[in-house]
Amino acid sequence: MRTVTVTASSQYQVLIGKGLIRQCGRLLEELADPCRVAIIADDRVDSLYGNIVHASLMYEGFSVARFTFPHGEASKNLTILGEILEFLAEQQFSRSDMILALGGGVTGDLAGFAAAVYLRGVPFVQIPTTLLAAVDSSVGGKTGIDLKGGKNLAGAFHQPAMVICDPDVFQSLSEEEFQNGISEMLKYGVLGDPELFDKLAGGDFRDPKTCDMQALEEMIETCIAMKRDIVAKDEFDTGIRQFLNLGHTLGHGIEKESRYQISHGRAVAIGLYLIARAAERAEIAEKGIARQIRRALENNGLPWECAFTPSAVAKAAMNDKKRRGGKIHFVFPQKIGSCRIIPIPVDAMEEMVEDAMSREE
Ligand code: GLY
Repeated sequence: MRTVTVTASSQYQVLIGKGLIRQCGRLLEELADPCRVAIIADDRVDSLYGNIVHASLMYEGFSVARFTFPHGEASKNLTILGEILEFLAEQQFSRSDMILALGGGVTGDLAGFAAAVYLRGVPFVQIPTTLLAAVDSSVGGKTGIDLKGGKNLAGAFHQPAMVICDPDVFQSLSEEEFQNGISEMLKYGVLGDPELFDKLAGGDFRDPKTCDMQALEEMIETCIAMKRDIVAKDEFDTGIRQFLNLGHTLGHGIEKESRYQISHGRAVAIGLYLIARAAERAEIAEKGIARQIRRALENNGLPWECAFTPSAVAKAAMNDKKRRGGKIHFVFPQKIGSCRIIPIPVDAMEEMVEDAMSREE
């Protein structure tokens, strides 16, 4: 088992290892005396892993309540958040009980936000069941929901008490869902680890059924360790944590413009390519970086273009919560493994996106 210790407003461990999901009861026992645990999962994940987690918790003496909701980004809203809170209240959960987020980013964000506000804060544990959630959203304490105005517009920082990451569960992901996680891992490579980028760029890890799981586990640890270092320095996202937003500002715009029909990982892939193109055009990045990123995306079954107009993408991205006054802080790659943040006036965004989306590379 690999362990990454995150030090933020609280300290916790991210445990990575095959088979850990079946041992979650024992792992939680190291954290708390047997108490009540609310497993929050979407309908799909609940049917795959709900009983396994439930049995492991019961075996160690925890008492379990389960809340399930319809899968998909559309559930990350105020209504489902309210239902979770009412469920916890009906079940008379107290501050010495615990919430367990079992699922991908939607579940982790929703359950984490419920844990942040129920009784003004109760402990929660994350068991990510997607690669994307494992390398990003399950670590670092960002929780929240989407509003009509955009993604993640309401939320709270609330660090988990533990994260249990079992790569075995990624075998049940569709290739497409798995590749969404590879998109986020490529982001880490562009951000600060050329070796990681090179390992992923050829597409050897695009299929969860055939890829080298040992090597994947190592790379998951690398990504989480990179996030740990950033979160330790800037838990509340006022400085260097914004680097984690590489590819996300335009990506969130694309996601929103597609009414969340384009998944987060795929939208980030397109956002990553577009911002690399913009960086190259503005001579912030070395020549050829956009092509290098495009090839890596293609090799991993990921998109790099979308059907929306530059104006629609720019407008949808303008509501990004990173907006400060009239400027949005964009993360621009300079070369693979190095990026910088530059504030771009919103008035200049459309032209930048238009340039990035123009045909020739
Ligand atoms: N997903 C970006 C962050 O955690 O800051």
